[in-house]
Amino acid sequence: MDINIEMKKNMSQKSKLSILILVAVLITNPVYAATQTGLSSTLITEWHSSVDRKACPDFRYPANKPSTVAGEPVYKANCASCHGETPIKSVEAVALMRKTSPEKQFETVCGGKHNFAKTLTVDERWNALQYMRTQILGYFPVGSEQAAKMDAIFGGNCAICHGTRGQGDGNLHKMLLPEPANFTMFKRLYTRSDERLFNEISYGIPWTGMPAWKDRHDFDKQQDFTPELIWDLVNYVRGFGYVQEINRLDVGREKLMEYKKSVGEIK
Ligand code: HEC
Ligand code: HEC
Repeated sequence: MDINIEMKKNMSQKSKLSILILVAVLITNPVYAATQTGLSSTLITEWHSSVDRKACPDFRYPANKPSTVAGEPVYKANCASCHGETPIKSVEAVALMRKTSPEKQFETVCGGKHNFAKTLTVDERWNALQYMRTQILGYFPVGSEQAAKMDAIFGGNCAICHGTRGQGDGNLHKMLLPEPANFTMFKRLYTRSDERLFNEISYGIPWTGMPAWKDRHDFDKQQDFTPELIWDLVNYVRGFGYVQEINRLDVGREKLMEYKKSVGEIK
């Protein structure tokens, strides 16, 4: 009898210890990620727009994925005089652009000294801004060797959760709560600065399935997750949110306008 009780006592102490260790691991991992990224729990998936609607009354997220090709002539005609014929890509310009979110950059273009709300449509502003961002921060030209390399790295490490098209629909997505981020969702991704995405990829996101990638090694592609690669991944992830061709929906709209004019429906 007594021995039995003694054994039970020992057992329960052991299992208590292992539970303690498990809890310690469960807490320290997210706490590490939280201290590195400055984020608290993201279990409640919220993304608040911090655009000042007074500074930019007609603010809205783009109707279609912005097009860098459509943005180039708008940029050349309206922005090049100050920002350079090809956008000036200094260390300072890169650092500045990584610090603020795309929606805050849109706000800058909207009012104040820029004041393009008067002369450019919302889509023209998004296109010009996206052109500027890709020229300063980097992008992977469709069909290039770099694009193929990044397809392989994203495909081998991230697509299992985020999906090959970045829509958060990878094979594992149903098993995760919160679900993997959908990178084509403007109202989410445009509230994030590139710096924040960099930190999230580097250190993971506390209390979610998003792992930390800093200092890992991809044995398949013989590639270390260096800061350079993580910045490339930030650019790659951003790439799901714009197109490098004329958006077919925009062409469709132009054709429709031409047609409406030809039948006298609009002037
Ligand atoms: C009259 C000159 C001028 C014109 C034209 C101009 N900008 Fe600017 N822009 C500036 C100045 C000056 C700054 C502040 C730069 C700084 O803080 O280093 C700025 C800042 C910005 C920023 C914020 C930088 C960042 O990284 O957050 C964005 C974005 C921007 N401009 C986009 C545009 C776009 C897009 C156009 C064209 C549609 C445009 N600008 C036209 C002068 C101009
Ligand atoms: C095991 C599943 C999983 C893998 C693998 C994974 N992620 Fe994630 N990722 C997630 C989840 C889940 C979230 C959403 C967390 C949240 O909602 O806070 C996320 C969020 C993100 C975010 C933050 C988006 C935002 O809105 O701030 C980025 C950026 C990201 N992942 C990039 C990557 C990259 C790049 C890779 C590959 C190197 C990768 N992820 C691999 C599960 C994964």
